[in-house]
Amino acid sequence: MKKIIMLYGLFLVMIGSLLMYQGCSELDTSATIAPDLDTHPDGWAVPTSNNFHGSYIASHKWNLSQCKTCHGGDYSGGSSGTSCLGCHTNNNGPENCRTCHGNSDHSNPPRALNGDTSTTSVGVGMHMFHRFPLYSASVACEECHRDINGFDDPNHIGTDPDGIAEITFGPLAFDTINGPIRPNPTWDRNTATCSNAYCHGTFKEGNVNAVGIWTNQGSVVCGTCHGDPNTGNPTPRTNGVFTPPHYSFMTINSCYVCHGNVINSQGQFVDKDLHVNGEIDFFAR
Ligand code: HEC
Ligand code: HEC
Ligand code: HEC
Ligand code: HEC
Ligand code: HEC
Ligand code: HEC
Repeated sequence: MKKIIMLYGLFLVMIGSLLMYQGCSELDTSATIAPDLDTHPDGWAVPTSNNFHGSYIASHKWNLSQCKTCHGGDYSGGSSGTSCLGCHTNNNGPENCRTCHGNSDHSNPPRALNGDTSTTSVGVGMHMFHRFPLYSASVACEECHRDINGFDDPNHIGTDPDGIAEITFGPLAFDTINGPIRPNPTWDRNTATCSNAYCHGTFKEGNVNAVGIWTNQGSVVCGTCHGDPNTGNPTPRTNGVFTPPHYSFMTINSCYVCHGNVINSQGQFVDKDLHVNGEIDFFAR
């Protein structure tokens, strides 16, 4: 009787090790699908860990297709059985713009890709001031970036991303208001400046040499783009020379006489959408 139990036990051990062998070869197969990632390390789901999956993705060219091989094309689990969508609850799950850019309200920085939220950081800069400008309409993303339609848009990350956004100016920065001056808008990342852009002064009677410093809100005031940046008087003058219909005696309280659809006698904008829109608006009312 004892012998039979022993033999039976041996048989069970043999079956058991066969099954274990089978298990290991399955692990090997999955390792060849994703050589980088045979198992997730400890802390993979913990944002403060060095092994956090968000940091891994950021240091591996933001490539999400590798995750899809196990977690499914729609991130709902796939062969892994673990969905991304339980934590990434916005539209399109992890591919939602706000996963990597901005915050729960908007997709433009802040927050930048590196986590920065300060306007002195080049990834953040004056985004919010172009979204909600003091005295013009909101500036569309496409005035400074190529149009990006979805995460997989070829204009977006590409195959070899450097983590630095591309600046490609839209029509407004090239506007000429039918004048002789041809803007040549230029972004210089080293100095964080935008120069030769219509929007910032490159137009007839504008301050054609004005620059906007992306990381310094105070670099653009009334008078920077047209007029006198030192006194803040916006009356247009080219190299200090006034030409009709603009004269040296004019102040911010004179503009309404001819530009009354844009600004009132107190120098307050009555229609911000007409200012820096690429057209000279005058003589209404
Ligand atoms: C080779 C298959 C495979 C690949 C590739 C893969 N995963 Fe997973 N992942 C799994 C499996 C299986 C689980 C569930 C078991 C576990 O938690 O380890 C899982 C679980 C997870 C979890 C939940 C962890 C937890 O503790 O709650 C997260 C988050 C995750 N994966 C993110 C990712 C990301 C991000 C990628 C792409 C960079 C990725 N995975 C690529 C197989 C994979
Ligand atoms: C257990 C919850 C959880 C699961 C499951 C999960 N994530 Fe995340 N993920 C997070 C958290 C938390 C963050 C950090 C959010 C933050 O910093 O605001 C994050 C951040 C990210 C980021 C941002 C990286 C960056 O550079 O900012 C990506 C991309 C991402 N996850 C992809 C995935 C993918 C793909 C899956 C599924 C394969 C997945 N996540 C599953 C919780 C999760
Ligand atoms: C007035 C021009 C302008 C507008 C409008 C603008 N951006 Fe940008 N954006 C920039 C500049 C400049 C940078 C920094 C480029 C660099 O790092 O060289 C940048 C960088 C970025 C980055 C990368 C940030 C990082 O982490 O490095 C993202 C993402 C971005 N912008 C998204 C948007 C979105 C979304 C919108 C529309 C809601 C928008 N931007 C509107 C000028 C603009
Ligand atoms: C997984 C992270 C991630 C998600 C999700 C994401 N982006 Fe990006 N985005 C990046 C990275 C990385 C860059 C910088 C690309 C580079 O190095 O050229 C970038 C750059 C940008 C830029 C700067 C312009 C450019 O061409 O470089 C804009 C605008 C932008 N993203 C918009 C979006 C929009 C809109 C969405 C949602 C549809 C989105 N992003 C979703 C990671 C992400
Ligand atoms: C007497 C009427 C009049 C007053 C007052 C006036 N403008 Fe103008 N403004 C015009 C006209 C007309 C044009 C179009 C000129 C053209 O097409 O060459 C114009 C054009 C402009 C332009 C576009 C650049 C250019 O010169 O073509 C700017 C900027 C401008 N005005 C700002 C102002 C500001 C700021 C004030 C107040 C300080 C002001 N204007 C007061 C009549 C006036
Ligand atoms: C960022 C650059 C910039 C700043 C700062 C700026 N302007 Fe202008 N302004 C323009 C441009 C560009 C035009 C040319 C017409 C257009 O596109 O609206 C203009 C035109 C005008 C006009 C003519 C009416 C019109 O919009 O066509 C008035 C009036 C005016 N600005 C007043 C002001 C006042 C007052 C301030 C300060 C409170 C100011 N601007 C600051 C760029 C600027």
